[in-house]
Amino acid sequence: MAITGILRVGLVQIRVLDFEESLVHYRDRIGLDVVGNIDENRLMLKAYDEFDHHSVVLHRAEKAGIDFIAFKADNEETIDRIKKETEDKYKFNYEIIDDQPGFGPIHTFTVPTGHKIGIYSEVEMAEDYPMIQNPFIWKKEPRGMRATHFDHALLYGPDQKTTVEWFTKVLGLSISEILLKEDGKESLCTWLTANTRGHDLAVLDFPEPNVLHHISFHLNSWEDVGNAADIMARYDISIDAGPMRHGITRGQTIYFFDPSGNRNEAYAGGYEYFPDHPVRVWDYDHAGAGIFYYDKALNDRFLSVYT
Ligand SMILES: [Fe+2]
Repeated sequence: MAITGILRVGLVQIRVLDFEESLVHYRDRIGLDVVGNIDENRLMLKAYDEFDHHSVVLHRAEKAGIDFIAFKADNEETIDRIKKETEDKYKFNYEIIDDQPGFGPIHTFTVPTGHKIGIYSEVEMAEDYPMIQNPFIWKKEPRGMRATHFDHALLYGPDQKTTVEWFTKVLGLSISEILLKEDGKESLCTWLTANTRGHDLAVLDFPEPNVLHHISFHLNSWEDVGNAADIMARYDISIDAGPMRHGITRGQTIYFFDPSGNRNEAYAGGYEYFPDHPVRVWDYDHAGAGIFYYDKALNDRFLSVYT
């Protein structure tokens, strides 16, 4: 196994206001499968091409946003090392989540951006995992936008610098790209990857803590991004931006909102990243092209709406 340590982002728990509307959105439109309930306020889902027990939890609550996001590690030794190094150097609040069905303990650390970041290594295979013997590309015909997996998230919060330092120095993630602040020195937004994806996570420096900008689902092709846009048009799903491309990661994308106001993304393509690649750097006055590659300018909603 060439990828060691942290393997990928694998689980996110977000807050939604209403189950019925959320289910139509995440199950029927995005195309996730319902795995089951954790309790009366939490519902597990997964995409059809994921092996692990579940990847998305919808938590019914008063306010939209994110509860935690978690990364899969190769083994418990990696987690022990991360725990020790974090305790020694960072003193982040530490807590274990042990009530996710199918998952062993999820070790969480509250990082300076205010987000609870989990790490786990033990997780059962989903009951309905993708075929592995003489496999068809799918077992049941994918629905809606045909999301293949939960892909990444963009988080906003204070002290992005220390948070990114922890992700790189302790968790071992690589920085694929950075967008510089106006001063041209510090990073405003950093894209982090644990594997060959362009990113598993992006973190933007922002005064308010624990903010979710978006969670993203992977689609197979640019054509599938078009299909996703057709679904949004047909079912009056609020589109934020796109279909378009990012300069950063080169992904083909469309942003939209779930019924609770959480921003989602449907994302395809993007380059393959390897840890020997140099960090790609974007100047502040190129932010428009970095995010909205064709328009070369960000829309106000993209910057001002978050949960
Ligand atoms: Fe994204």
